[in-house]
Amino acid sequence: MRRIAVVIPAAGAGRRMGSVAKPLVELGGQPMLQRSIRPFLDRDDVHWVIIALPPELAAAPPHWLMGDRRVDVLAGGAERGDSVRNALAAVPMEAEIVLVHDAARPLVSAEVIERCVAAAAEGRSAIAGMPIVDTIKEVDGDGCIVSTPDRRTLWAAQTPQAFPAEVLRDAHARAAADRISTTDDAALVARYGGTVMVVEGATDNMKITTPADLAIAEALIARRS
Ligand code: CTP
Ligand code: MG
Repeated sequence: MRRIAVVIPAAGAGRRMGSVAKPLVELGGQPMLQRSIRPFLDRDDVHWVIIALPPELAAAPPHWLMGDRRVDVLAGGAERGDSVRNALAAVPMEAEIVLVHDAARPLVSAEVIERCVAAAAEGRSAIAGMPIVDTIKEVDGDGCIVSTPDRRTLWAAQTPQAFPAEVLRDAHARAAADRISTTDDAALVARYGGTVMVVEGATDNMKITTPADLAIAEALIARRS
């Protein structure tokens, strides 16, 4: 069985939510972060879950977070990429696969996680994604349409993102040497010549960004139970 480490960026400021500690916001009576990590902790092959939190939360993590020995918390950084880098540095060398999953996607399913893990277990890098349903317009500074990309080639990226551990470590090391700020890990791996595939995500695997998203997520949770 592969040994998996899960990196959870949860150190954002939640500005679009009204500058609240988004991971602690309750959904269906449970903190968002607790929902985001549960399906990973349900897997026997997940050996480590490293969560990047705002410094004040990392210093005094909520009790419900520390009930599982596999969970570790640390302080994140200014940007999401800094938070991932901090957490990745704490991933033990024995980890063979690293999954990166946003705390802001609390409705991730076991099936989506499994599709990402299956790709990484074959030595591939993979991210969950969904075909775009809207028609996308590229617009210039004057608000005029420049182009209409073919929708069939466009996918919306979700998390988890899954990598053979050495692939992600190598990409981060090279980015640090090149002084490139890490944005999205899949883009970083691709930048250094890696191939990243998209596996099927889920419409339910939405990202919670604004207060309106909370109502949608609550409805999806109610439908599940
Ligand atoms: N994140 C992080 N460290 C940062 C910024 C973001 O770990 N410095 C995490 C967030 O906690 C979230 C994920 O990255 O789980 C995706 O970010 P986003 O949804 O944008 O959350 P926030 O950055 O908190 O929200 P906002 O952009 O509205 O401030
Ligand atoms: Mg953000």
